[in-house]
Amino acid sequence: MTDQYAVIGNPIGHTKSPLIHGLFAEETQQDMAYTAIEGPLEPEQAFAERVRAFALAGGKGMNVTAPFKLKAFAMADERSERAELAGAVNAMKFEGGRIIAENFDGIGLVRDIEVNLGLPMAGKRVLLLGAGGAARGALLPFLAARPESLVIANRNVAKARDLAAQVGAHGALHACGYGDLQALGRFDLVVNATSASLSGDLPPVPPSVFSPEGAAYELAYGKRLTPFLRLARNAGVFTIADGVGMLVEQAAEAFDWWRGVRPATRAVIERLTVPLE
Ligand code: ATR
Repeated sequence: MTDQYAVIGNPIGHTKSPLIHGLFAEETQQDMAYTAIEGPLEPEQAFAERVRAFALAGGKGMNVTAPFKLKAFAMADERSERAELAGAVNAMKFEGGRIIAENFDGIGLVRDIEVNLGLPMAGKRVLLLGAGGAARGALLPFLAARPESLVIANRNVAKARDLAAQVGAHGALHACGYGDLQALGRFDLVVNATSASLSGDLPPVPPSVFSPEGAAYELAYGKRLTPFLRLARNAGVFTIADGVGMLVEQAAEAFDWWRGVRPATRAVIERLTVPLE
């Protein structure tokens, strides 16, 4: 029987996951189907019931997107350390009646930066903007990539400080507010993990953080030249990128986790890329 997978979110019409996993399955010749499910927002327990029904019907795994990443976290029987620190889950595997949960967003981001953009993070100065779910997912994979320093800036500085305290033994993370950035000089890589771009806003980041030979990365994808990327480009930053590569790479991680086969990503990224200008 064809193995069943799905992505669950609400709304879900915009999702690229069925296309991405369909292309992966074709390329690696896996007998699987991948659909999109609009998850119920109410009542409270309806999401978990929908997931369990999918698993009971023989479903093998699911991706989870907004607004369910926290609910998926809460209902999991087992979680990876990455998922624990992110406080959010974007992939689940159903095995022997148990739900095993992962978060591949951060690892997909690191792979896109290091492999696809060709920018190893080791020894580099890295600035992460934002301290919400997206930023939290990136922290452990970023620290594992051994940057010279990792700074996290957020409007609500207490939230950034809490995160720095939580990562603790995994590596040094310096938390600050946007007003402190001017004094911290230039960074080789600046990643916008705030949700500001979704509403066309710019986090209050000073242009002094960018270095011309460095890179600026926008987690949102398909939004073309966001105010953040425009600021970076105007500061002369050589490499600017949006999150299309991250989207495809996190999918590849999940696919490998489910199927034990790593799909090639380059052609899929090219197919989904919306030119920045
Ligand atoms: P997500 O899951 O996308 O990360 P979230 O958990 O709601 O969403 O977090 C949103 C992040 O974007 C937060 O870091 C938020 O900053 P605050 O914690 O200070 O609110 C940040 N953010 C949203 N809009 C922003 C803006 N216009 N400027 C700067 N930061 C913004």
